[in-house]
Amino acid sequence: MEDYIVSIGTICIDDIITSSIWPQLGDKTLAKSKGYIVGGMPYNTACVLSNMGVKTYMLDVIGNDYKDLIIDDLKENNVDYSLCNYDNHKTLRTIIVNVNGERVIFVINDFDKPDIILNDKKKELLLNAKYVYTNIPEIKRIKDNKNFIKFLLNNNVKIVYDIESTMINSVHRDEFYFENASILSFNEKGFKKFINNKHYNYINKYLNKGITIIVTKGKNGCEVFTKNVHEKIGGHKVKPVDTTGAGDTFNAVFLAKQIIGNDTIVSIKEANRIAALSTEYFGVNKFIGKVLNK
Ligand SMILES: Nc1ncnc2c1ncn2[C@@H]1O[C@H](COP(=O)(O)OP(=O)(O)O)[C@@H](O)[C@H]1O
Ligand SMILES: [Mg+2]
Repeated sequence: MEDYIVSIGTICIDDIITSSIWPQLGDKTLAKSKGYIVGGMPYNTACVLSNMGVKTYMLDVIGNDYKDLIIDDLKENNVDYSLCNYDNHKTLRTIIVNVNGERVIFVINDFDKPDIILNDKKKELLLNAKYVYTNIPEIKRIKDNKNFIKFLLNNNVKIVYDIESTMINSVHRDEFYFENASILSFNEKGFKKFINNKHYNYINKYLNKGITIIVTKGKNGCEVFTKNVHEKIGGHKVKPVDTTGAGDTFNAVFLAKQIIGNDTIVSIKEANRIAALSTEYFGVNKFIGKVLNK
């Protein structure tokens, strides 16, 4: 059977607004709406993986309020949604305000995400995946997740976490998740919170366990650490119009290259290149085909 990836995370609806200025508090400004786009970080990654030809499942509970829109998008991107369930919770929404290529995201966070219940079929599929891609708050939605993570590790499933600063509760409290991962992919703020003023050598304890640590640094490219490799890769010169999803695209390309056997450096360079190009388009999922052909 071909190698596949399961991406776990909340599929959300992004309401995208563009404005040429960011107004002061109390001011008003004209803006344009790009409409509702199906998004969510693990979902963006799943879409790019599928578009790169990697068999990818999405695992989430989908709200009935936006079910049709979400399923159309899953189908369009060829993401397998047979692991998803449906219920009547309100779909998570974000409002993204894009000002000349950089953006501010408001996550409308007024309810809890539904728990993810694993039946035998889902467990079986997860246990046979090459990679499980998610972030720490999302994997915590799985009941008894710590034992399940141990099951995954015993089955040689590689767990990959995308880590931004808001996803770390406290490094100490989330230690179990960090130390049982295969790849920790931080953005700069996430890495800063992880390091928490400690010396860089602090990460050696993870590298010595065989964990790969990636730090993405926006226009400044990225950095990768393994037990034997430490490499900084500069950013590609691009003209960004929308940086939303750059990190998600980066992680997808890295995994798509890894799954076919490329080494870390080859994979990271391609991730850095494609992620940069993806910022030149609005809404990564819609344009990834074009980006991949560049
Ligand atoms: N302005 C940019 N110019 C060139 N590359 C970029 C730019 N923004 C993002 N990228 C690429 O996307 C990757 C992820 O972006 P980053 O902003 O670090 O992550 P996130 O979107 O998760 O915060 C970077 O490592 C880089 O490869
Ligand atoms: Mg990110």
